Amino acid sequence: MTSKTLLAALILAAAPLAAQAEGDPAAGEKSFRKCSACHQVGEGAKNKVGPVLNGVVGRAAATAPEFKYSKAMAEQGEAGLVWTAETLAEFIENPKKWMPGTKMAFPGIKKPEDRADLIAYLETLSDGADTAAEAAPAAAAPAEG
Ligand code: HEC
Repeated sequence: MTSKTLLAALILAAAPLAAQAEGDPAAGEKSFRKCSACHQVGEGAKNKVGPVLNGVVGRAAATAPEFKYSKAMAEQGEAGLVWTAETLAEFIENPKKWMPGTKMAFPGIKKPEDRADLIAYLETLSDGADTAAEAAPAAAAPAEG
């Protein structure tokens, strides 16, 4: 009985998180200034300190052409890590904690709504028309772990 109650509580707790995944792209574009020191986006974007982020939502990790990823990121990509609204939110909250060994030297974005806005902005940069639609069900799905 206790574990059922706990499960119900977890599902209820996850629901608002999924709702927050729908952020405001305009606000996200402003927050992206924190990222643009290292990441370029848009037409003609090039890898800088960090890889180009066009189309990152729905993309397998560590697959930007010609970018030299850390061993940690490359291994996660090979292991099947895909950037969805959910995995992006976790990574951006605290990159080094979520992925020990990443060379993304960024302290993280602590406010859930700021992360949601940023991800909404990143979704507007997808190259493939369907990537955002594919990422959405993953974000809405109940937590696996
Ligand atoms: C100080 C430079 C720096 C800043 C600032 C920075 N990043 Fe990064 N980012 C990197 C580097 C370097 C990598 C490659 C990490 C690795 O290989 O471990 C990376 C990787 C990533 C990836 C994985 C991309 C892929 O192709 O798998 C995402 C997503 C990402 N960053 C998003 C962001 C967002 C969003 C922000 C702003 C909130 C941000 N980064 C800020 C340097 C930075």
